[in-house]
Amino acid sequence: MKFDKPAETNPIDNEKVVSQPTPRIEGPLKVTGTATYAYEQDKGLKNVAYGYIVGSAIAKGTIENIDISKAQRAPGVLNILTYKTIGSLGKAGRNNAHLLAGPNIEHYHQAMALVVAETFEQARSAANLIHVKYKRSHGQYSLVKNIDSSVRPERITGGPAYTSVGDFDGAFSNADVTLDQTYGTSGHAHAMMEPPASVAIWEDNKLTIYTSHQMINWALKDIATTLNMPIENIRVNSPFIGGGFGGKLFVRADAMFAALAARATKRPVKVTMTRPFMFNNMPHRAATIQRVRIGTDKAGKITAIGHENWSGDINAKKSEAGVRPTRMLYAGANRMTEARIANLNLAEANAMRAPGEAPGSMVLEVAMDEMAETLGMDPIDFRILNDTQVVGENPDKPFSQRRLKECLQRGAREFGWRDRPKTPGETREGDWLIGMGVAAAFRNAPVQNSAARVKLTRGGAVIVETDMTDIGTGSYTIIGQTAAEMLGVPLSQVTVRLGDSDSPVSAGSGGQWGAASSTSGVYAACLKLREKIAEVAGLDPKTADFVDASISDASNSYPLRDIAKEHGELTAEDTVEFGDLQKQFQVSSFGSHFIEVGVHVVTGEVRLRRMLAVAEAGRILNPTSARNQMIGAMTMGAGAALMEDLVVDEKVGFFVNHDLAGYEVPVHADIPQQQVIFLEDEDPKSSPVKAKGVGELGICGVGAAIANAVYNATGVRVRQYPITLDKLI
Ligand code: MOS
Repeated sequence: MKFDKPAETNPIDNEKVVSQPTPRIEGPLKVTGTATYAYEQDKGLKNVAYGYIVGSAIAKGTIENIDISKAQRAPGVLNILTYKTIGSLGKAGRNNAHLLAGPNIEHYHQAMALVVAETFEQARSAANLIHVKYKRSHGQYSLVKNIDSSVRPERITGGPAYTSVGDFDGAFSNADVTLDQTYGTSGHAHAMMEPPASVAIWEDNKLTIYTSHQMINWALKDIATTLNMPIENIRVNSPFIGGGFGGKLFVRADAMFAALAARATKRPVKVTMTRPFMFNNMPHRAATIQRVRIGTDKAGKITAIGHENWSGDINAKKSEAGVRPTRMLYAGANRMTEARIANLNLAEANAMRAPGEAPGSMVLEVAMDEMAETLGMDPIDFRILNDTQVVGENPDKPFSQRRLKECLQRGAREFGWRDRPKTPGETREGDWLIGMGVAAAFRNAPVQNSAARVKLTRGGAVIVETDMTDIGTGSYTIIGQTAAEMLGVPLSQVTVRLGDSDSPVSAGSGGQWGAASSTSGVYAACLKLREKIAEVAGLDPKTADFVDASISDASNSYPLRDIAKEHGELTAEDTVEFGDLQKQFQVSSFGSHFIEVGVHVVTGEVRLRRMLAVAEAGRILNPTSARNQMIGAMTMGAGAALMEDLVVDEKVGFFVNHDLAGYEVPVHADIPQQQVIFLEDEDPKSSPVKAKGVGELGICGVGAAIANAVYNATGVRVRQYPITLDKLI
């Protein structure tokens, strides 16, 4: 079906199953350890071999010689793959760095060899016997030191690298009140629970690969390109995924090597990355330096707003798009934004949960707080004064729906914002200074075409098949709920099969488009199936109702089970194709974050005391899994604000803290009670199911709200994240 005009009233609106708080249907498999993740997909396979990846020990240079002879003679070794033995590979377009090093080396721990052996331990042990002679060359590793050589790329995610509206410089220099500040955000690692892992099987020129991947169809295409093989000969399967956050959007070395090794050894091959290897091998969220300038009139109306963002990547390829929120979020006639990128020889910089918006809002929303203070305004009043129903830099483009003001006001009421300390440092409980902070949450809610197949089986059960993934987000459940709602059956009667490239191509999990897009695809397929069922039942599909596992009209009612028994299995497949609505309207989700912190007067330790988010994201398809998405993202935002920091060793050119001992993420003890409120809503311009994305919204703004709360508690404005105690004492 084509979605090119706002959704009308449809069966989803009944909300008998959809929008009901529903525990995840695959939950029992996960908590009993019976959900099969990629590395466990060797059940029933014989002769499985194990691969161990060897990464480059230098950051930039060439391999002069790679001596594998000793390793080849080690016990259990079956094969060793290097650039010399593999031959030429195609380059998958989605990665910024090559998956395979040699002879050139682009970054530290770039995959250089795979040792294949009878056991994992043998492969790992033999890997230590590979001797490499490198020729090092000079690399650039520091963003600060290389900012002068940065360039303006042509494009960043979602737009040009430079935008200008009106006369920013003139308006800024004539503004009554101004702010000009520079901030820094640190590099972040996805550090998802399940490291990348793959099991590859070759049979008669056909490759089956179980791998942990967010986007099945991208994986299919990229594996085909990398291995120079026809797409029809590849099957990718990824039914369970232990987190992705953007780190599993693209094919990684484990998948490439597993496939190549399975072909070379004619055995199934398992490859995983070790935790210490992931950090320098996989993409990361680039560190940024961001300068924000805001000019207002005396009343606080923004007359000029400018945002510049610097980040680094291999060969200056991928910019972190931190300027994105500033392009849209607030009104103001004169504006400029620019992203610049420096060449850094670190692991590739790429998308991580709310790329652009997450680090951008960590800065913009602090600048807004600083500006409000200079103006002597409440930070909420200042934001509401500059609220807009049209895109900031493009007043011709309205938001499909925007209730930011309500999110701020509702949150203020619930949180007790009125009682916040009016001057920084004024409230103290024992040795703790107490402060509150607020920030707006804003993240675009794009959509992607998405297909599904729905079956009514002979036994009257419903099966949904789509290559959509569930990266821990709840896709299984909302897809099941959608089908149950559409066909009038209980959720327990629906089986959902995800992550298999043999199923229709879905939106996949990325850019917080997964939920709205994939359920819309299921909705479209179910509409078709309803027509088929009505046809065989001899009812008019336009007036037929699907309730109580039956199809009925005013005079007849037939149980679906009877129809299936009589007419056999019925199958329908369809794709939702999104038309121009997203061009006419800016579809985004909105929210607010409220944070209370305590800062220890002696040690400077920051403790989160309360977290509240209010969100507006159209229809909430499942309040349980949506809340889950929000609190996970809020936790990640707290990590970015207070602890997460990929520290670069500038001599070697790598991230020093490359495991979960050195790269700190929040643990339960770091996170207090988290409250989440969803505004009841539908956004008919967003998608047929009237939902928008929520998975990345929750991380946007939470870091700034924490920074603002720390300032409110202490009077110390930390402009370089993470806000560690050394910066407060
Ligand atoms: Mo998201 S960073 O597009 O997985």
